[in-house]
Amino acid sequence: LVDEGLRSGKLRFVVGAAEAAKEAEFHYLCVPTPQGPDGAADLSYLEAAAAEIGPVLPNDSVVVNKSTVPVGSTRVVSRVLGRSDVAVVSNPEFLREGSAVHDFLHPDRVVIGSEDQSAAVRVASLYLGVAAPMMVTDPASAETIKYASNAFLATKLSFVNAVAAVCEAVGADVNDVVLGMGYDKRIGSEFLRPGPGWGGSCFPKDTRAMIHIADDHGYDFDLLRGVITVNEEQFERVADKVSDMAGGTLDGARVAAWGLTFKARTDDLRESPALEIIRRLIERGAEVVAYDPAVETAPDGVTLASDLYAACEGANVLVVLTEWDDFRWPDFDKVAEVMADRRVVDARNILDRAALQRLEFDVVGIGRT
Ligand code: UGA
Repeated sequence: LVDEGLRSGKLRFVVGAAEAAKEAEFHYLCVPTPQGPDGAADLSYLEAAAAEIGPVLPNDSVVVNKSTVPVGSTRVVSRVLGRSDVAVVSNPEFLREGSAVHDFLHPDRVVIGSEDQSAAVRVASLYLGVAAPMMVTDPASAETIKYASNAFLATKLSFVNAVAAVCEAVGADVNDVVLGMGYDKRIGSEFLRPGPGWGGSCFPKDTRAMIHIADDHGYDFDLLRGVITVNEEQFERVADKVSDMAGGTLDGARVAAWGLTFKARTDDLRESPALEIIRRLIERGAEVVAYDPAVETAPDGVTLASDLYAACEGANVLVVLTEWDDFRWPDFDKVAEVMADRRVVDARNILDRAALQRLEFDVVGIGRT
């Protein structure tokens, strides 16, 4: 899209936000809102951007906030802009890393939050080519929709990982359980894949920020605290599985880790469950050699291998942490040949178990005995 925009002359890059803002009618704020030291979202980038463009905005232009911001931030932006003729509209973004362009062009919904109906209509008109339900609401509701959606999705994942733990205890297969649940339209089959826990640059910070927002307004969002606790327990549970596979201790064990990114089709390592689990393995005395098709620089304490087989050389246990397609159909004969022991923890439930069992691998997954 960037190439296309540059070629057609519709997209131009300039240095400095003020330079970009001078002649435009719509101004999108898409800056990061990282987690501050107390768990609340840090608005300094947003305020800096608003302060920079405020003085140069053309009359009657509209500032659109795409960043994930706490309730009330539309008013903060308005105040920092200091422009009574400029409307501020909240228009949260729901795209995912790795499928951002598709998600942007085919959204499930477009949410617009504004006190100013005519500004809301002007922003809505930008989406006329997009076939999706569009809702206009007040800014606080729009901002809450974004946090509540991410918090709900994280809740779904912690719930399914907790169900996976029950499946292991009672001898059920979580894949079948999820399939059976998903046919119920009220539940739906999406976003129910059990795994090593959820991570990335959004869910961890947004769940904590939502707890913080609730706290600030006198509500203890205990349910969401539980969702985060279950997630942290999941990292520990996967580390336990690797330890059990290694014979009860990781001291001196060599572990091959397939995958470092927080999910496939991104090179993002921020709050990656894979790194959380590897850190725990190293703390327990394991030597970890990892391979990830999207990572070229080894994170602290991790040795990086050049391919998935090199990672397995001399390993006592292989643990699969990211659902890259490269890991689904490897040459298991080669894996068996180079590993010291044929033991696998498949924390994404993606490997072909029958193929592994034919080669006499011991395999455990998540939620399947
Ligand atoms: C998430 C939301 O899905 C987007 O809707 C939202 O716009 C975005 O955050 C944001 O706030 O900007 P993203 O962080 O790219 O998108 O990642 P997801 O695809 O949601 O995955 C998050 C985590 O959940 C990953 O660790 C992934 O492996 C895990 N996951 C996801 C599962 O374990 N099982 C699943 O079935 C789905």
